[in-house]
Amino acid sequence: MNRQYKNIPIQSSEITPESLYLSRREWLKKAGLVGAGALLAACGIAPTTSPTASPTPENDQTFTSTSTNKASDELGAQLTDFDAITGFVNYYEFSTDKQAVAKLAEKFTITLWQIEVGGMVHKPKTYGIEDLLRKFPRQERIYRMRCVEGWSMVIPWLGFPLASLLKEVEPMSSARYVRFETILRPEEMPGQNSPFFDWPYVEGLRLDEAMHDLTIVCTGLYGKDLPAQNGAPVRLVVPWKYGFKSPKSLVKIDLVEQQPATFWSVSAPHEYGFYSNVNPEKSHPRWSQATERRIGETGRRPTLMFNGYADQVAYLYKDMDLNIYY
Ligand code: MTE
Repeated sequence: MNRQYKNIPIQSSEITPESLYLSRREWLKKAGLVGAGALLAACGIAPTTSPTASPTPENDQTFTSTSTNKASDELGAQLTDFDAITGFVNYYEFSTDKQAVAKLAEKFTITLWQIEVGGMVHKPKTYGIEDLLRKFPRQERIYRMRCVEGWSMVIPWLGFPLASLLKEVEPMSSARYVRFETILRPEEMPGQNSPFFDWPYVEGLRLDEAMHDLTIVCTGLYGKDLPAQNGAPVRLVVPWKYGFKSPKSLVKIDLVEQQPATFWSVSAPHEYGFYSNVNPEKSHPRWSQATERRIGETGRRPTLMFNGYADQVAYLYKDMDLNIYY
């Protein structure tokens, strides 16, 4: 078991057996990726002068491997292979090539990491990662994750509800939103030298979304601390929204009054709204969101409203026109 943080208890219920993992090479072979060229990547945006083009659900045909995992989520969906989860990621600070990220992130420094929680709160606080883990015991949460590009995975995250952290700093009654800021370190993150985006990557949630029990502060997956490419040492996970609403490598969480700007809505305002709830009925301007390719399966499956979490979260949006607030 890889433990980056010493002396932090990990609950036995967290663990999915390591024997379920395929080796990276075996997985790449199964996926038909050995020797394949780098996939073109983007969160659905291709800056006109960029050398990459963005994938559409139609051209994202790479993944045909079958998973050997037995564990599944509450809808019976099998967990995605560890090597797919860690080998095929969006993390633009490193690269727009999903398969290049893991290698580029290998030397990313996560020691002495701190996360500042402040803004409109009565008790602002800065946490070291070990303090955070001691204070808020983490649990395994198996979540379906749906990327806006049209692929999805089922991931056994380790984390704790963001609500526990927010309650501790005591939000003021005037706080309405939560703003998330991630690391700015261009010397270690080559993608941050790209002039096409406004760095650092920032995200936001309405306060009631942030306080929802499904929203977790995540520090691990498959019973291990987070690999760098998945957002080590700490990220957010919000399973009923498209994957880009789950920012990686958090350094700051602020309670704010106004709806904050977000990385993708600034980069492509005509394509990405603030809410970004998974919604099969609301097409992206360049492709339908009605179906998805579950990594490890062949073919496509229907995408579910709120990514299948409607029973838990639909009430948050009951008086909203989701064609306007997308
Ligand atoms: N966080 C940061 N800091 N930078 C990113 O480029 N990409 C997002 C999200 N979080 C991204 C990020 C997107 S588009 C997706 S789909 C998920 O991370 C993918 O990562 P995961 O598979 O580890 O969840």
